[in-house]
Amino acid sequence: MTVLMRFSGDFGGGVVLNARSFLTAGDAFTQTQEAAFFASIRLRNGTYKTTDHHRLDDLNMLVIGEWRKLGSKPSQIMDVGVSSGISSLEWADALTRAGIETKILATDLCMRGSLVRLLPGYEVLLDRDGKVLQHIVSNLPVRWYLNGPRDFLKGTGFVVAALNALAGALLPLANARGKWRDVLLVNPHARDDARLSFAEDDILAPNPAQLRGRFNAIRVSNLLNHGYFNEAQLRRAVANLRDRLVGAGSFLIVNRTHANGINHGTLFQLGDAIRFEVVARIGEGSEIENIVLSA
Ligand SMILES: C[S@@+](CC[C@H](N)C(=O)[O-])C[C@H]1O[C@@H](n2cnc3c(N)ncnc32)[C@H](O)[C@@H]1O
Repeated sequence: MTVLMRFSGDFGGGVVLNARSFLTAGDAFTQTQEAAFFASIRLRNGTYKTTDHHRLDDLNMLVIGEWRKLGSKPSQIMDVGVSSGISSLEWADALTRAGIETKILATDLCMRGSLVRLLPGYEVLLDRDGKVLQHIVSNLPVRWYLNGPRDFLKGTGFVVAALNALAGALLPLANARGKWRDVLLVNPHARDDARLSFAEDDILAPNPAQLRGRFNAIRVSNLLNHGYFNEAQLRRAVANLRDRLVGAGSFLIVNRTHANGINHGTLFQLGDAIRFEVVARIGEGSEIENIVLSA
């Protein structure tokens, strides 16, 4: 058991959630189990779905405090790269408590996957391109990615590589059988909240027409950072975000939570010249502030 759990990445104690148990458990799992499940999912673009409850509480307070001072009540908000959506739900709760009635469109590159049974006791979670996001072997989640040469020293790399090869061989047969189950990778309470709606969206792709010029405020947390994207990609994403705002007076929030749980983010506002200006910072501010200010 201990050896197999090494394949699944870090987890937070108790039964380890996999994509199937996340689908079937309703809301019968702990916050720790949920956080461990999302942290174990790495997308093919190298980003992780890591998120957690109460991760952005202090950021929410900062933003709401600044909006109070400015007399702003954004009614159309977008939250980009939301993973489980739990921080969007907590933001909606904080805004409601502050008397700000709003609708939040919560988006993510990968919001749903497909669960496919390849053999008795062996399933895979696939992204929309049919790539494996998680192997499930006898209820244990096993990652698809290798953690460098040390993986092979520990032996785990051989198992991950073997499962990747096995899935590659069996998936064409499963495709022919066509027995897939959709998994919405969203917290059930967030999914059912009327203030939130959800959509898949790639912040690096050309903006869909229906998202342009629509939002009074956009937040992007734990996505636009130098660890995930190069400067050209970050500039493209910021240009897309600006194009989705309604114009002068609207807000952009960019944040990164460091490994110690401390948030470093910046609240920007679009000025009359449609250039971003800094309104407030949390921690040391956003690491891509210079990119946003020169957009
Ligand atoms: C680390 S999580 C951040 C979750 C949440 N915002 C938070 O701060 O806890 C990053 C999320 O961004 C999503 N993502 C990755 N690339 C993306 C892209 N190009 N466009 C939109 N979302 C993306 C991932 O699927 C993942 O759910």
